[in-house]
This record gives sequence, structure tokens and C-alpha cells, in this order.
Amino acid sequence: MKRIGVFTSGGDAPGMNACIRAVVRGAVYHGIEVYGIRRGYSGMIAGDVYKMESHSVSNIVQRGGTILKSARSKEFMTPEGRKKAHENLQSLGIEGLVAIGGNGTFTGAMIFGNEYGIPTVGAPGTIDNDLYGTDYTIGFDTAVNTALDAIDRIRDTASSHDRIFFIEVMGRDSGYIAVQCGIAGGAELVMVPEVLTPISHVVETLKQGWSRSKSSSIIIVAEGDEEGSAQEVADKIKGQVDENADIRVTTLGHIQRGGQPSAYDRILASRLGLGALEGLIGGQKNVMAGIINNDLVYTPFEDTIRLPKPINEDLLRMVKILSV
Ligand code: F6P
Repeated sequence: MKRIGVFTSGGDAPGMNACIRAVVRGAVYHGIEVYGIRRGYSGMIAGDVYKMESHSVSNIVQRGGTILKSARSKEFMTPEGRKKAHENLQSLGIEGLVAIGGNGTFTGAMIFGNEYGIPTVGAPGTIDNDLYGTDYTIGFDTAVNTALDAIDRIRDTASSHDRIFFIEVMGRDSGYIAVQCGIAGGAELVMVPEVLTPISHVVETLKQGWSRSKSSSIIIVAEGDEEGSAQEVADKIKGQVDENADIRVTTLGHIQRGGQPSAYDRILASRLGLGALEGLIGGQKNVMAGIINNDLVYTPFEDTIRLPKPINEDLLRMVKILSV
């Protein structure tokens, strides 16, 4: 393999730059040319690519976002879009790809690989930590720490004003961010999409806490919870805990996606970027590089996409015990 492409796709995640850096510097080290593809699959279709050198990735290991920019391309979901992308890659002589992203990114890569035979190795970049085949995804640790910083601040107000706060964190269909924030932030309850938490249970938990003379409470709601958004959950419980209960809602939103990556994410991203590149050079294709129990492993895209990553229910149990 003489020439490869690298791109980021889907939601940006802190540590994506460290990952790009590892791919580019690794390629330089192994004597392979590397092209940066801007805005993921959109850039592949538009031919928006540039040759990257070692200095192209100077001074980015500490930066959030992605220097290659990112997008969720609708056109790549069409056969015509993928045909254009393939023609562009062919005319540039790009023989393999490193894709940094999440589920949607790898679904696209798998279809593209099956249609045109271009080998792709993925590096898991998403704050959601929802990918089967790796213990942690790039950006998750930073997102949890960012959310936690906000939760700690909200706790000051909750405690000063004797309030119940419902705090919504990101995670689309996954409760990983919510669970970790719940434990580290000392929440009373965590509501996640993987486990049904009926409103009656939320009311009961709050009532029990208040009967034990708790004067403030924090409930973390993952955005994909079955009972709805934090605002919807708060509306549903209104008047059911105590008629004088002062309830507030905060949705943390995209604040969780930006910012400097933590040391953990920079190291993880560097390992996964180099791991993806060296896998590609070594003949891997249509797989995602991941770290499981501190070992580098490759999991077929098909499995990372299809298999659910179960939430650790022991951690949820822990939230309950520790908030007594
Ligand atoms: O996948 C990462 C994520 O931040 C999810 O947690 C969230 O549901 C989604 O992206 C938001 O996407 P967008 O930035 O496109 O609104």
C-alpha cells in the first residue's frame, strides 16, 4: 500500500485530532503517503482532499474538534454518491482508508468496502461510547469530565436552594455518559435508554430521599431515555413528589462535545489511530480497531454496527446504593 486517505465523520469528539495525528505520523514513519479528506464522506464525493505531511498535524494533539472537519453525508447513502467517491479515490490512487467516527461512519465504510473493495480500518471516535468492540471510544472520557464539571456547579445551586434538578446528558441511544456522570456526580438516579425507569420509580426514589431529610436531588437523564427528555420527565413528575418541590431542568447539549481532550483520550486516540493505520498496512479491512482489556483488537464493522454494547447494570445498582 503506497497511498491512503484519512477522514473524520459523524459527530466530532475530543481526541479526533490526536487520532488524525497518529495516522499521519504513523504513515510518514512507514513511508506511506497520506491524504486528508475534508468533511468525511461529503469531501470524498466532492474530491476535497489534500496531501498531509508530518507538519500538517503539528500542534493539534491538544485541540478539540477535528482539523479535517466532519459531516453526516446523506449523498453517501446513495449508490450515485458512493460511485463519485470511488472515482475520486481512484483518480488519486488512494488504496485504503482510515475512518474515524461512529456507527454511521462504519456503516458507510462497510457498504463502500463491499461495493468497491476499498479496505477501510476504523478508529472509534464518538463521545457516546456506544460501539461494540472497544471498552472506550475516543472523546467519551473528556465528555464525561466536561459534563461532570457542569453537574458539580449545578449541585451547588441545587443544595443552596433545596431544589430537584433534572440534568440531561448526551448519548443518543446510549446511557454510558449518564451512568458515569451519575456515579461521579453523586446523583440520586440515572435514567438510561437501556433500562426502563418508570416515572413511578423516579417519584418513589425522590420521595424516599426527601423523607430521609434530603433537601436537594440530582437526576441524570440520558437524552434517549424512554420517558423522554429531562424536561418531559420533570413535567411528568410535577406535583407528585411534594407540592412545594422546586424543580429545575438543565440540558447540557453540545458543550459535551467540544474542548481539550483529556490525557486519557489523547493516549487512547493515539493508540487507536496508529492501530488502525498499522492494521490497514497489515492487510486488515472492514474492521474497527479497539482496545479491550488494554489490548488492541480488530472487530468486523458488521459486529460493531450490529451488536449492542450492554450497559454495566452493576454500575446502575451502585448509583442506587451510594445515594442512600
Ligand atoms: O453521536 C454523538 C452525539 O453527540 C449524540 O450524543 C447526539 O445525540 C448527537 O451526536 C447529536 O448530533 P448533532 O450534533 O448532529 O445534533
